[in-house]
Amino acid sequence: MQVPIRPALKELKEYKPGKLVKGAIKLSSNENPLGPSPKVLTEILDSIKEGEIPLSVYPWERNEEELIEEIAGYTGMKKDNIVIGAGIDGVLDTLVKILINGDDAIIPVPTFSLYESLVKIAGGKPRYLTRKSDFSISVADLISACSEKTRMFFLASPNNPTGNCISEDEVREIAQSVPEAMVIIDEAYAEFADSSLLKQVDEYENVVVLRTFSKAFGLAGLRVGYAVVPKWLANLYKKVSMPFTVNSIAIIAAMAALKDKKHIRKSVELVKHGRKYLTENLQLKVYPSQANFVLVDVAPAKSSEVYDALLKKGIVVRNCSSFRGAGDSLIRISVGTREQNDRVVEAFDSLF
Ligand SMILES: Cc1ncc(COP(=O)(O)O)c(C=O)c1O
Repeated sequence: MQVPIRPALKELKEYKPGKLVKGAIKLSSNENPLGPSPKVLTEILDSIKEGEIPLSVYPWERNEEELIEEIAGYTGMKKDNIVIGAGIDGVLDTLVKILINGDDAIIPVPTFSLYESLVKIAGGKPRYLTRKSDFSISVADLISACSEKTRMFFLASPNNPTGNCISEDEVREIAQSVPEAMVIIDEAYAEFADSSLLKQVDEYENVVVLRTFSKAFGLAGLRVGYAVVPKWLANLYKKVSMPFTVNSIAIIAAMAALKDKKHIRKSVELVKHGRKYLTENLQLKVYPSQANFVLVDVAPAKSSEVYDALLKKGIVVRNCSSFRGAGDSLIRISVGTREQNDRVVEAFDSLF
């Protein structure tokens, strides 16, 4: 006999990350094709050599505080409102633990799949709302989908995999209409977008903005993320979060990455040029994107066929049929280097 487990866990799906295929170009996980600032590596090696971060010692509170101060400078937000975690994934894990205890969460789909998994793991009930045909949200539908048990809204802006943002007015309307639920704005791709919703945290006690070092800063492998949250939530977060979720090397790396403004600019410029190039040169429907990827509709072909055909040509993209509500004709392509983008355009030209 097996130990009984909660029924909600039985229907969970494993998170499937973008594939890494030897010898192929990986454009499936929206990483930085330039990698991190070269100063990150120097800083890590120097700090280890000089014993500044002894690896046998737990991460120091002082180092965490220094990182939070750097993030405060970068975002223009107060340090008392900033919390850190092992990527946005880690931050979300803690937020869901705080907010969901068998409660509801509203998730406009298609979107990042971790939201629904975390809610289910916490014994909560995700309520899915299908986005409009241009992937924008209907605020009225969102609000009317709420019950007295709704505690979270998950709104990625720019959204993954659709690349579109939500507006300040939409956030205001949701935050004001449902004060007993937290509006979680996931800005993993904020650096590539024209605007940010960070300032909304100062206006409402129920708005949170999530950010990461995995995308524009090229540090996905080190797992560092942060959230700007109302003060009451920052206090709770520190009690609920596992201790030492961000390791000493990741802290040093994130601080060095924040200081290299030139590398951030270069990474963002590369994405903006590449995004425009792909949008203009892929002879199919490409949705407008504010992120470091583009979403392409390959209908009447199936996304799985196109995924396989691109893989044969040495290019790994994301087949979006695994995203709830995305249908079976959408492909997400991370913006790469100039050469990588050229390879994508050539491959599409030969396929379509
Ligand atoms: C919208 C969104 N949020 C969060 C993440 C994960 O971020 P992190 O690497 O900081 O955990 C991703 C990764 O692709 C994403 O697309």
